[in-house]
Amino acid sequence: MSDACPARKKLYIETVGCQMNLLDSELVVGKLRNEGYELTDDVEQADTILYNTCSVRQHAEDKVYSALGRIRHLKTLKPDVSIGVLGCMAQKDQAKILKRAPYVDVVVGPGQLGRVSELLDLAKSEGKPQMAVSLPRTGGSRDTVTASFAEYDPLREPSMRPSPYQAFVRIMMGCDKFCTYCIVPSVRGPEQSRPPATIIDEARILADQGVREITLLGQTVNSYKHPEGPGRTARLSDLLERLHAIDGISRIKFITNYPNDMTDDLLQAVRDLPKVSRYLHVPAQSGCDDVLKRMKRGYTVKLYDDMMARIREIIPNASVSSDFIVGFCGETEASFQKSVAMVERWRFKNSFIFKYSARTGTKADLLMIDDIPEEVKKRRNAELLAVQDAISLEDYRTFVGQTVEVLVEGPSKSSTARELGPGEFGQLTGRTSCDRIVVFDGPGRLIGRTLDVEIDRASVVTLFGRVRSTQVVGSRMANLVG
Ligand code: SAH
Ligand code: SF4
Ligand code: F3S
Repeated sequence: MSDACPARKKLYIETVGCQMNLLDSELVVGKLRNEGYELTDDVEQADTILYNTCSVRQHAEDKVYSALGRIRHLKTLKPDVSIGVLGCMAQKDQAKILKRAPYVDVVVGPGQLGRVSELLDLAKSEGKPQMAVSLPRTGGSRDTVTASFAEYDPLREPSMRPSPYQAFVRIMMGCDKFCTYCIVPSVRGPEQSRPPATIIDEARILADQGVREITLLGQTVNSYKHPEGPGRTARLSDLLERLHAIDGISRIKFITNYPNDMTDDLLQAVRDLPKVSRYLHVPAQSGCDDVLKRMKRGYTVKLYDDMMARIREIIPNASVSSDFIVGFCGETEASFQKSVAMVERWRFKNSFIFKYSARTGTKADLLMIDDIPEEVKKRRNAELLAVQDAISLEDYRTFVGQTVEVLVEGPSKSSTARELGPGEFGQLTGRTSCDRIVVFDGPGRLIGRTLDVEIDRASVVTLFGRVRSTQVVGSRMANLVG
């Protein structure tokens, strides 16, 4: 008997890069699923293979080029298979991708993602690769360049989100800071803030769909500003206040912050709005003024230190995390030790530490020499990480014996990747309001709820504990986890 439904095309997607890319992939997948695709984890089975790429460091690009090398044979085996390179590396490398991998069918920059399915069809019908990218930053007036980075935030279907309880909401696109090492302003285009009403509507819909935690995204999220009538500008603190009023949302986070824009109104909003996570990710990049100057970060160590002092004063229980680049052009041992001192001084919850990677098209690549040898970068990376890890462990250990409030996110990775049924018991994971990861045992029905967990053990990145709150989980549960 013939099946009335045509077989659904199988889509395989891999995503590299930041949360912005995770959100973009979710939106692209959502659209393609609506058009009849279904997801597969097996690249060999796929009809369409997409890579959503990142250009922030060489390593991220190498990953994608080697993945493209590995799937070359699939195109020979199944000439009908479509291969797409999306995102930041598509914008940066453009036709170079087709030169290195001529079997790629579509190259689509982050400002053109709304066109992915149309371009996949066009590549088939015309029998040749299709490319859609935005203008370079110097490719026209600011308005023309901005318009070429089209907003891509279509409505989402709940079944397409990786978690039913958590969602990203983009509030800004692009970046205008032009730090000398960074490729992001070129590949993501000019800074644009989305209108507050659009953001609030999106969050309301997400809340109605069952989302409990939203994370606001922007390259410099706290630089958010949108005009609202004569003489009035909506800032991030205004957005937080409006989002806080939405029923159903129980936690609001925002990443990533820029030190110069960490204003008191924002810190006060974080202090005064209980749903807002007491967690601030504010990359320092370096603890040395000379290096910060060459990075064109636009602040001094003193400004960063004053900002940290204000954070500690206004929100004493906030956790702060940072990013550091080691081995930037001309970073002496003394400069590096100033980054170590900064980590020791401010005792970040955690730091993301990166070895400097020269990016074609950036000011640093054009004007400075990448003069720190790889072994020195590696050693500095390991040294700074060791200092940070020791601090993180000490900090996490202070939670042993305490009870913390946790928003349960899902089964822990080490437990199982599969869904936990509501009645099934397994290892769960969640986060505190200050973004510390907590792992504990419980039934699947706790996922998406907020509950108290008593901490009995700590590692560098995780707190381990037992569920406490009987009012949330009921007495049967209390017996189970007793
Ligand atoms: N918009 C964010 C971060 C963007 S990229 C911000 O401004 O903080 C994420 C991190 O990657 C940066 O904070 C920086 O630490 C690192 N990074 C960016 N470009 C890099 C490069 N060329 N080499 C090494 N690390 C880099
Ligand atoms: Fe890159 Fe600097 Fe913009 Fe962050 S603020 S995205 S590091 S240019
Ligand atoms: Fe990478 Fe693009 Fe994000 S370069 S870090 S995926 S904005």
